[in-house]
Amino acid sequence: MMMKNIWAMWLSFGMGLLSIAIAFPMVSAANPLDESVQAGKNLFMSATFAGNGMNCNSCHMAGGTTQGALPNGKSIPSLTNAAAIFPRYNKRMDAVLTLQDQVHNCINGALQGTPPSHESKEMVALISYLTSLSQGKAIDMGGKPK
Ligand code: HEC
Repeated sequence: MMMKNIWAMWLSFGMGLLSIAIAFPMVSAANPLDESVQAGKNLFMSATFAGNGMNCNSCHMAGGTTQGALPNGKSIPSLTNAAAIFPRYNKRMDAVLTLQDQVHNCINGALQGTPPSHESKEMVALISYLTSLSQGKAIDMGGKPK
């Protein structure tokens, strides 16, 4: 009699754990960092920032994962190590730029759009996405784009 109750107790305890294990991934499916990366990718592929109609992917093709091209056909490096080589010195501007500064400049110049502020969700998302492309790459501050 006693034994039976103990087994019943363990069984219901086990079922309880199982149901928590099943329920938990649904609760944690919204990983804020993954969401930021995904939001950044969406912006990269389609946001025009109220500019000339281009988006990041117009020049930095395949989401920045391959060599890109300017509208005049001139090829530009991929963004696969961009997050690993900033901050960098920009000779033309005679200033050290962070990755945010570079994105700001591309939105301002290339897209002729209105850049979101450095601390905005949009900028954080774009930086999250760009950084995900450099995941695992060694920091090479000031290095060359690949
Ligand atoms: C009209 C083409 C064009 C568009 C559109 C464009 N860029 Fe760029 N981007 C460039 C060029 C050219 C460079 C080379 C660096 C420079 O401007 O000095 C560059 C450089 C970069 C770099 C630095 C790459 C490196 O490794 O040095 C990043 C990061 C970047 N762009 C992000 C973006 C993002 C994010 C967007 C969209 C908001 C965007 N770009 C839109 C042309 C473009």
